[in-house]
Amino acid sequence: MTGGDLSRRLFDDNSILTREDWAAYCAHQSPERPPRLTPAEYAALDDQERRRYNRRRAAWHADWGLNTTSTMVLARQEFAVIAEKNFYSHDPVKDHVALSGPPTLGKTTIAQILGRDFEIEVRVLLEERGVKLEDLDEFQPVLYLSITSETTTDTLNRQMLLFLGTPISVSKEYRKGDLELAVAETLRRHGVRLIIPDDVHLLRPGRRNTEGVHSYLKALSSRAPIMLLMVGIDLEKTNLFDELRHKDTVEGGQTGGRTTLLPVGRFAKGSPEWLDLVRWVDDQLVLLHHPPGRLLRLKDYLWNRTQGGIGSLMSLIRRAALKAVVTEHEQISRQLIDLTTADYNAEKHGNREVT
Ligand SMILES: Nc1ncnc2c1ncn2[C@@H]1O[C@H](COP(=O)(O)OP(=O)(O)OP(=O)(O)O)[C@@H](O)[C@H]1O
Ligand SMILES: [Mg+2]
Repeated sequence: MTGGDLSRRLFDDNSILTREDWAAYCAHQSPERPPRLTPAEYAALDDQERRRYNRRRAAWHADWGLNTTSTMVLARQEFAVIAEKNFYSHDPVKDHVALSGPPTLGKTTIAQILGRDFEIEVRVLLEERGVKLEDLDEFQPVLYLSITSETTTDTLNRQMLLFLGTPISVSKEYRKGDLELAVAETLRRHGVRLIIPDDVHLLRPGRRNTEGVHSYLKALSSRAPIMLLMVGIDLEKTNLFDELRHKDTVEGGQTGGRTTLLPVGRFAKGSPEWLDLVRWVDDQLVLLHHPPGRLLRLKDYLWNRTQGGIGSLMSLIRRAALKAVVTEHEQISRQLIDLTTADYNAEKHGNREVT
């Protein structure tokens, strides 16, 4: 068992470094939702039962699954159309998608869902064509990559090989061309069709590695018929879509000409979508004294606290739910959320006003 496996097996760790991690992500299901007990039923539990019930509630409140937001629905529709066109097209150069928006608004969540959809869909389509995928163990249509500010073409190549289960000794010196060939060969061998480089904004313009990684990703996708789903913060402000020479011309860059930008934004204050999200979160709570729908009355306050960011809202309410159990408050009131600290960005830009 490797270290990564132990981390995943013991702690259900969702970091994705290898195809096994990706398979575990695709198979992951939220824990079963515990029943909501009446105060009398709760009082009748013995100590051990109460601890077990509260642990189940903690697991549920920390991992209650995903809300189907309108951004997610739209992204799925757009992505599915482009992926389908790519699948049936004989053009070896594929169309790409970029998911872009401010921090912690759910970009990675959507990208991973799109990747999982893609994986399932490709398998179905191939089986419909009579391909016996159970005999093709090495088949791995999706490759997910976390980019860091230190990523170079060399580390990117090693990361892809590690994901596919062909790690190369770090100490071994490869001539650049050899490693690239090994990667191209390995991608083909595993039938990779979609690469998801996440956090590509970390490749900052002006850094020595950046141009190299950008152009290498593009080269990879044109060398093999691979679709890219690039994910990152405000990608339209980076030079990802503009090859340097054509940056300011009306033609734009080659990548810009093949990429569809899907924005991921904040919820608007007072919008029906925000109300739906708050209602959904309220529905997830398993607290003894929480009156159903209570959070709806706090919708503007919650928007002010989180500035309409889904990541901040989820983390604030999850923490408040855990706190409501530990403090035996057993409901989420405004006072309790007031005392619950949100993430740094929400605390800095949000406020505690009620309207
Ligand atoms: N549709 C959703 N339903 C429930 N929770 C969500 C949803 N989308 C995002 N979240 C939660 O919001 C948090 C931030 O999401 P995510 O990591 O996808 O954002 P991000 O835009 O990729 O952030 P970053 O800019 O840091 O990379 C996560 O805890 C995630 O579980
Ligand atoms: Mg992310």
